[in-house]
Amino acid sequence: MSEDFLPIKGYDHVEFYVGNAKQAAHFYEKVFGFTPIAKCGLETGSRDVASYVMQQGKVQFVFTTAYGPDHEVARHCALHGDGVKAIALEVKDVASALAETKHRGATILKPATTKEDEHGKVVIGEVMYAGDTIFRFVERGGYGGAFAPGFAPIELRGDAIPVGFAAIDHIVTNVHLGEMDYWANWYERVLGFNKLAHFTDKDISTEYSALMSKVMENGTGKCKFPINEPAEGKKKSQIEEYLDFYYGSGVQHIAMNTGNIYETVMELRRRDIDFLRIPDTYYEYMRERVGDVGEDWDKLQELGILIDKDEDGYLLQIFTAPVQDRPTLFYEVIERHGSRGFGIGNFKALFISIEEEQALRGNL
Ligand code: FE2
Repeated sequence: MSEDFLPIKGYDHVEFYVGNAKQAAHFYEKVFGFTPIAKCGLETGSRDVASYVMQQGKVQFVFTTAYGPDHEVARHCALHGDGVKAIALEVKDVASALAETKHRGATILKPATTKEDEHGKVVIGEVMYAGDTIFRFVERGGYGGAFAPGFAPIELRGDAIPVGFAAIDHIVTNVHLGEMDYWANWYERVLGFNKLAHFTDKDISTEYSALMSKVMENGTGKCKFPINEPAEGKKKSQIEEYLDFYYGSGVQHIAMNTGNIYETVMELRRRDIDFLRIPDTYYEYMRERVGDVGEDWDKLQELGILIDKDEDGYLLQIFTAPVQDRPTLFYEVIERHGSRGFGIGNFKALFISIEEEQALRGNL
């Protein structure tokens, strides 16, 4: 086996560009249970943007907004609405990550840049990804401060109540028709990832819409990136709807692991998070297909949790409705029991319910 030229320690953070980072941070704290840990803004000497760093388990989200209209962050928001700008991966050596990926065709957007303070240093570098989305490499080298130099720790108020998110499981990108193979090859060629799975429109189609998907993962299997493209359907597919409203390719959903999906979902429902409605017929069908795995079918149905089984085990998963007005980014909560899959058996059942919601918005 050839040596991994891009050794990745794991997901470092996801950065969102939003219209109002203060309110986004409040939503992610009060509803999704993230703890605000660090901030930059006017009070820390940042004159152009404000950012809030939120943490739960190993998941780190950064919400950034611009102080003025003529800033890249503001323009990104005007075009795309609130959404994911950067997928940040932790690496041992940013300079090497940039050199290796550039050599294989990556477009470098930010060369290795070191920021330093009394707690140590953090190095970052960035490469272009689909649409306006980027990959960011982060080298922490034992940095002991709050997130990164330039950020001030946020005084803990102790009132963020976590919902059980432990880590990022996978991050899904939607791309235009005909671009999935390009990006799958890009992951393979530029980042040295492997193809984990491939779903065609025969696997994932309903009467109205269909999609194709390829799943790419890094050498250690820690980071998984499915890529969706729309397939021909009678009406507009949910991937096309995303592309229309996001004005381009971008991150469709982020899946987060939980150790107890029942608790997580019950708590999120209590906090008024809307999940996709799952038709009752789904559970009749899946009881047959999955059989007894020791889960409480009535509870799964009551909470709208999906289940799928493959040769390695099974998984439980659920999808939220989009978390902004545009039907773009949403979240998945996933609890894995051996299965390394993505709920392929659920795709069809899921799309039927997604299309019901889409029809309600007048976009089907
Ligand atoms: Fe997913």
